[in-house]
Amino acid sequence: MRLRNKTALITGAGAGMGRAASLLFAREGAKVAAVDCAPETGEETVSLIRQAGGEAFFIRADVACPAGAEAMIREAAARWGRLDILFNNAGIVVQGSVEDTSEEEWDRQIDINLKGVFLGCKYAVPVMRAQGGGVIVNMASVAGIIGIRNRAAYSASKGGVIGLTRAVAADHVGDNIRVNCICPGTIETPSLRDRIASAPDPAAARRQYESRQPIGRLGTPEEIAEAALYLASDAAAFMTGNALAIDGGIAEIM
Ligand SMILES: NC(=O)c1ccc[n+]([C@@H]2O[C@H](COP(=O)([O-])OP(=O)(O)OC[C@H]3O[C@@H](n4cnc5c(N)ncnc54)[C@H](O)[C@@H]3O)[C@@H](O)[C@H]2O)c1
Repeated sequence: MRLRNKTALITGAGAGMGRAASLLFAREGAKVAAVDCAPETGEETVSLIRQAGGEAFFIRADVACPAGAEAMIREAAARWGRLDILFNNAGIVVQGSVEDTSEEEWDRQIDINLKGVFLGCKYAVPVMRAQGGGVIVNMASVAGIIGIRNRAAYSASKGGVIGLTRAVAADHVGDNIRVNCICPGTIETPSLRDRIASAPDPAAARRQYESRQPIGRLGTPEEIAEAALYLASDAAAFMTGNALAIDGGIAEIM
């Protein structure tokens, strides 16, 4: 087991990659605090972990809300006496170019995807420093590396996550806190399925998502969960400040 005796808090644990990572981390021995703003799906993730023999509990929180973010870290650390791993995964996709993104949409996108990561790090760092160290994994995106059409605010939020990851890693390398982020390509999650279903021609939208990745298919939540596990585990003990692209080659090859 790669996370034996570790405690982990995972945001956005109710669906997609957050759920896949919650299940995998628990299977690898971690006790999981599953955080989501949607209680039903978050509780469902906890039930799935328990059914498989793992240990988990649910915390309802909106990661963009400072009081909520502080409370989730405090609650997880209090429950187990320490917080070894924080996976800032929760995020949303606001579609649009700069022209057709409203200021409200921009603020909402940045609040959840970037400020949410900032708040998670802000409140986890003192806990991790006091216990002698910890690991933070942030969810960025290939959209933070390359320019993606119709994703202006989203790309900005994810580029921000990459920069923030490196800054937090630099500030806290001496506290024995490792901080890395993951940059997935297009992954088949509930959020992506919704975007495909709401496109004017869903079959064409799916083909377009698949074909823009050189590998020619969508990624799976489990493939990204494996990367999160690697970064969270001692196998990545020499790695900090890194942005790990797992994207079917989208940012690397043509
Ligand atoms: N799906 C992709 O192709 C893709 C690619 C690259 C990066 N990402 C990123 O990966 C992360 C997870 O994406 P997904 O596709 O699994 O999404 P998803 O929508 O399938 O799941 C996201 C979960 O986060 C929760 N959530 C949303 N806003 C929240 C908030 N403010 N506070 C707490 N919980 C909140 C939702 O309730 C949901 O359970 C996001 O940060 C996303 O931007 C997704």
